Amino acid sequence: MDIDRRAFLASVGGLAVVEALDPEAKAEALEHYMMEKLDAEAGGLALDGEAQVVAAPADATIRRGAGSLFGPRGPEGKRAMPALAPMSDKPTLIEFFEKRFAPANHVLQSATRALKTGMSEEIVLACLLHDVVLNLVKVDHGWWGAQMLEPYVPERTSWAIRYHQALRFYPDPANGYEYPELYNRIFGKDYEPQPHIKAAYEYARKHKWYIDARMVTVNDLYAFDPNAKVSIEPFIDIIGRHFKQPKEGLGNDGSPTAHMWRTMMFPDNPL
Ligand SMILES: [Fe+2]
Ligand SMILES: [Fe+2]
Repeated sequence: MDIDRRAFLASVGGLAVVEALDPEAKAEALEHYMMEKLDAEAGGLALDGEAQVVAAPADATIRRGAGSLFGPRGPEGKRAMPALAPMSDKPTLIEFFEKRFAPANHVLQSATRALKTGMSEEIVLACLLHDVVLNLVKVDHGWWGAQMLEPYVPERTSWAIRYHQALRFYPDPANGYEYPELYNRIFGKDYEPQPHIKAAYEYARKHKWYIDARMVTVNDLYAFDPNAKVSIEPFIDIIGRHFKQPKEGLGNDGSPTAHMWRTMMFPDNPL
């Protein structure tokens, strides 16, 4: 995917705004810009000329860290709150993909690459789910995502999701992960992750499951192809084997994170 530096800066409110962001927030802004652009292109939304996703309107009343379900999405001139289908009484993960995460192009691409390159099912599942929490909240999405998914996925899958956020700032060429050149272009060479990111990286790099989180970042890197055709179909069996779908439905099961799923089911509930 081509990233137009000017379009990216415009999307977050201009150079001055970007310069005022701390490094982690800059990286988050870039990732979200790329994911929105990918979804807009893959989802068939018309982008006029130079593809642009613009800043929230001046009268925006939400913070940048609010999840995608809570703010307007789409290209300039067409930004609108996402239309949401009502959920069934017993929502499954697949239903969330169809009605709340769609088009979910980035995570589907990431998991497709993991599957094609023969990675373990735990890693494929981690790739498939690594950014879905961005629909709920964007700030510190590795931690939020891991926590939301922890009751339902293998421990090493949620572990990998938690640490992919930090690992993407640290190259590991031996395992196929180069520091994204794009980060240099957008943020400059002096980019320094926040202390909590550095600490998480240093912890994760010595952990026995390091490679799982590292593979999430490897597949992340190549998952921004606007022309890729992907679907949830190839992952149905892996979800069946490894995702503990509650019989009452996600959000109704009384797990420690059921409220997070309910929040995505009913994002317009006032309190
Ligand atoms: Fe991510
Ligand atoms: Fe990602």
